[in-house]
Amino acid sequence: MKFTNSLSLQKRFHEIIPGGSHTYAKGDDQYPENMPVYIDRGKGCHIWDLDDNRFIEYGMGLRSVTLGHAFKPVNQAAARQMKKGNNYVRPAKIELECAEEFLSIIGGAEMVKFSKDGSDATSGAVKLARAYTGRELIAICADHPFFSVDDWFIGTTPVAGGIPDNIKQLTVKFHFNDIASVTEMFEKYPGKIACVMLEAEKNDPPRDNFLHELMRISHENGAVFILDEMITGFRWHLGGAQKKYNIVPDMSTFGKALGNGFAISALAGKKEFMNLGGLYHDKERVFLMSTTHGAENHALAAAIATMQFYKKNPVIEHLSEQGRKLKEGVNKVSEELKLKDYVSIIGPDCCSVYTTRDEKNQPSQPFRTLFLQETMKRGLIMPSSIVSYSHSDKDINYTIEMIAETLVIYKKALDEGIDKFIEGRPIKPVYRKYN
Ligand SMILES: Cc1ncc(COP(=O)(O)O)c(C=O)c1O
Repeated sequence: MKFTNSLSLQKRFHEIIPGGSHTYAKGDDQYPENMPVYIDRGKGCHIWDLDDNRFIEYGMGLRSVTLGHAFKPVNQAAARQMKKGNNYVRPAKIELECAEEFLSIIGGAEMVKFSKDGSDATSGAVKLARAYTGRELIAICADHPFFSVDDWFIGTTPVAGGIPDNIKQLTVKFHFNDIASVTEMFEKYPGKIACVMLEAEKNDPPRDNFLHELMRISHENGAVFILDEMITGFRWHLGGAQKKYNIVPDMSTFGKALGNGFAISALAGKKEFMNLGGLYHDKERVFLMSTTHGAENHALAAAIATMQFYKKNPVIEHLSEQGRKLKEGVNKVSEELKLKDYVSIIGPDCCSVYTTRDEKNQPSQPFRTLFLQETMKRGLIMPSSIVSYSHSDKDINYTIEMIAETLVIYKKALDEGIDKFIEGRPIKPVYRKYN
């Protein structure tokens, strides 16, 4: 596999784009050196780079593409809308149509407002909660990796350059499945916490009615309960993880798969909160998610087509089924090679990740680099093990075969030392203070 065309652009990417990418998770430091893979096109679960190398993708546009790349019903709906125009002086009817379609699937929500990125929605939820409660503190789940690009969240990570200390101090944390950490937090900040925000599930499901208990304690302490469904929405259940776990949050946030990769996000919730961003109340006004491109009409058309496709086809079932086959296949091979403690697919079938541990059984960036390097050489691009509606049995079986070959090399690296096997510098975590 050659990367000649991609490599010829790598320097220029970094000269004119900070980080060489418009999203850190897609950056060079996340992938093996000398394998930049600038992408030309995608179809289904396959992508082709500038050297015409074909890969099966297991990232699916940072989990935003659940149906498949260039998915015909969605693209056709967006193209039809584009012919009519895209952005006018007053709202287009499609803004209402998309809101109706969305509220038909997210049962507990009474109002919804769309925007472009998930961060618009989570930051909008935080703002409403602060306005509603008159409190300043935001409580987030410490075990969930990302809620927003905005200062209230990024200020809690090691990449906090440019964020004032007093902003950082306004976000506090609790742990998932750990009610003691929740009660301790509310005791430490009585009457101060505006809202609690978390994902309904990450790698482990909620235990002992955790979500309901957390909501109860939050309400008891006057805090608003917000579920971030950016990832769980359109994967766990058509009605979101809130439907799967039978809970109605005060507000919830969606994005990613809502438009099958088109830029659209949503803040949804009870009227009591959402209406503060509206025109018909006598409280202080909240400037809620109002951007020039927020209702880009072809993204709304894409979202409507995506939601309607989900309603008519077993997308959720397929994601779980293909994810399960991949997980079982890879974990079987890993077990056979006695690597189960080092490489293993974990988490829900519809949205899994894999572990890469070193000889001391510690999570390892060099071993992750080796895994990425060897799977990429074999036509897989696998930052995680995310499947889509377009991943066929053939794709999954091929992937398991290629991972089996990769694991033979992984085992040798465990025995003989990793340095002999990785072909460049190791990858680095996104959240780090210095380069
Ligand atoms: C759980 C969660 N919330 C919020 C966001 C922010 O979404 P966006 O990147 O669209 O702003 C992400 C993005 O990865 C996410 O995973």
